[in-house]
Amino acid sequence: MKALVLSGGSGTRLRPFTYSMPKQLIPIANRPVLEHVLENIREIGVTEIGVIVGERRPEIEAVLGDGSRLGVRITYLHQEQPLGLAHTVTVAREFLGDEDFVMYLGDNMLPNGIAEVAEEFRAGRPAAQVVVHKVDDPRAFGVAEVGPDGAVQRLVEKPQQPRSDLALIGVYFFTPAIHLAVDAIEPSPRGELEITDAIQWLVTAGAPVRASEYRGYWKDTGRVDDVLDCNRELLEGLRRSVAGEVDADSELIGEVLVEPGAKVVRSRIEGPAVVGAGSVVEDSHIGPHTSIGKDCVLRDTHVSYSIALDGASVRGVSGIHGSLIGRSAAVTSVHSALRHHRLVVGDHTQVEVAA
Ligand code: DAU
Repeated sequence: MKALVLSGGSGTRLRPFTYSMPKQLIPIANRPVLEHVLENIREIGVTEIGVIVGERRPEIEAVLGDGSRLGVRITYLHQEQPLGLAHTVTVAREFLGDEDFVMYLGDNMLPNGIAEVAEEFRAGRPAAQVVVHKVDDPRAFGVAEVGPDGAVQRLVEKPQQPRSDLALIGVYFFTPAIHLAVDAIEPSPRGELEITDAIQWLVTAGAPVRASEYRGYWKDTGRVDDVLDCNRELLEGLRRSVAGEVDADSELIGEVLVEPGAKVVRSRIEGPAVVGAGSVVEDSHIGPHTSIGKDCVLRDTHVSYSIALDGASVRGVSGIHGSLIGRSAAVTSVHSALRHHRLVVGDHTQVEVAA
């Protein structure tokens, strides 16, 4: 079996971050989403992985390389334009050959792994095996109607009036039968070749299509709130490890990871929390549910339920919560007679100042 990981697309809902980095590289518990994805694939014994990339290929390649660091072999497959999930299957046609494969959306996080569904697929080898999860509002997802025996009866992409609460999660197992379906379908009203339509084509043709309900934690990390929630979930599994320096006037509470070269001075780190390599935390309170990337500086601050990306700094500003701070971004306070805020913020940035 091979794997196809989708890492093209534009990621408009995660602006401004996606101006400078592909959304699949946003760090969750200080590791890019794509690394979590590749790890789940390797865990089911699949090491031959095609990664679909668009114009962000250089950044993605710089992080994943040839995959050997993660125990897999990566072939980069270039998609000229994001013409849809089913379109990526046509781009990967030669790479996939006539093997079964798992298609995995590069922005989906399933921290409990995909071993069970992989086993189900391998045991029955239906033409397609989709993974579904109950959600409150399925309108933003592909939606499946599933019979009591697990057979898929109908699939619709982002319906206005969903007929079930089962959203399609971004993991699909296929036999080569999918290639016929992909060749047969037409672009959707949003101009994309939808994988949902290709799977529906198989259902209509009478091919066996099965759904497994995923009961673990799942997030499509397409929005900031989802990234933060997912970070919280992953940090819950953290184990204490202190490789950096922590001075005698600091206190680490619970599961805290202080990476090599990090320095914690006169501070309180409340786990679960990570302080990335080379970062400095001084006179601050960090956590819980907070990830500090590499080479950050945090002074005189309290940051909770947040992520600071590499090189970010926060100085003299307390009460930072629910925040995603970009690479090398600076959040500072100034002592001035003038009581005003000075903001130099990029396009599509969101600043919420407590009144
Ligand atoms: O997250 C689950 C949902 O993912 C499913 O419920 C939907 O049925 C499925 O269509 C998909 O919907 P999204 O609108 O969220 O897909 P998105 O455009 O975010 O693309 C998913 C991933 O695939 C993302 O990592 C970008 C990549 N991609 C997307 C397109 C359209 C490509 O590599 N090439 C593409 O042409």
